[in-house]
Amino acid sequence: MLPTSKYLWSAVALLVLLLHVVLSRHITKAKEKRTTRIHPDKERVIILGASSGVGRALTKLYAARGAKVCPVARREELLQELVNECGTQCTPFTGDFTAPVDMERLRRKIIQEWDGLDTLHICAGVSAVQPAMALVGVQTSDEGPDVAGIKRAMEIAGQATQGNVVGPLVAAMTFIPIMKKTSAAPAILLVSLVAAVIPAPTRALYAATKAAAFKFFQSLAIEHPEISFTCMMPATIQGNFRASAVDVNPSMRKGPENKEGLAVEYVAGKCAAAVDRRTGGNVVLPWILYAIAHHLYYIWPSLIERAARRKYNFKTYG
Ligand SMILES: NC(=O)c1ccc[n+]([C@@H]2O[C@H](COP(=O)([O-])OP(=O)(O)OC[C@H]3O[C@@H](n4cnc5c(N)ncnc54)[C@H](OP(=O)(O)O)[C@@H]3O)[C@@H](O)[C@H]2O)c1
Repeated sequence: MLPTSKYLWSAVALLVLLLHVVLSRHITKAKEKRTTRIHPDKERVIILGASSGVGRALTKLYAARGAKVCPVARREELLQELVNECGTQCTPFTGDFTAPVDMERLRRKIIQEWDGLDTLHICAGVSAVQPAMALVGVQTSDEGPDVAGIKRAMEIAGQATQGNVVGPLVAAMTFIPIMKKTSAAPAILLVSLVAAVIPAPTRALYAATKAAAFKFFQSLAIEHPEISFTCMMPATIQGNFRASAVDVNPSMRKGPENKEGLAVEYVAGKCAAAVDRRTGGNVVLPWILYAIAHHLYYIWPSLIERAARRKYNFKTYG
């Protein structure tokens, strides 16, 4: 046998082995589908960040399945509109997911009304859309920023951390014990973003804070194997993304809705399906393109960096 054909057979054997592992994992997961342990109309679900976007679409999806669903956000009037659309199995809660007092109050309400919790979707988050050096106000490369500029950047970084790291942490810590105690198959899904694993210009602060939360959740998944943890990592989603940007002047946050990108209903459907299948680890959306890009970054970072600059139409800053 020629040495090249030996290599070829080894490659084929490796491929078959890989296929086997992937398929058997898929089949095992399908066998243990969570919906056989918790029927959809018995499921008790909290959705943090439900007054708009993905969280709002998820609330409607669970309500249509007959689940007991609690949408949570700070804007009460939007939650009330949602409840009017969803019906009586939808119990709204007005509160801030970064505030321990609010989350503890929510837990008491859930125990009182539902006697426990099966599913926690963490959709709430804030965005940041400026190049990193714009946070300190640097326009040209010949001078460094002043102290006031650096302090301003720290303040903005604090807000991004509060919304994207502290909030998910407070929520996880508040609900993990009661989920373990009261659910036959507890599941927590965190909505992160694909830029948390594939770098993008103008998303440094946003992606860094989202990445911190997903790393935190990856460790939680190891520490609490009774709970199924999923981290959803979508690309751009339709909607008013700038509205939550912590690095944009409030007067400039309003604008036309972004019609490009993934539909909120599509992302919500993927979140619910991942929880139903108990899909662990990270799920990137759309899958093929970004899964390849994610892994390609390890072997050819400059290619991904060039592609990211092109996608965002980014010229060097400062
Ligand atoms: N939009 C995108 O292009 C995109 C892409 C990838 C990933 N993502 C991620 O996907 C998730 C959902 O995005 P989206 O586009 O649906 O966002 P969205 O429409 O801005 O919705 C965010 C929701 O979170 C709530 N929220 C924010 N801070 C909160 C707080 N402190 N306490 C309670 N609720 C809070 C908001 O409600 P209130 O203001 O009423 O509290 C709102 O209901 C986010 O985590 C985002 O980072 C978004």
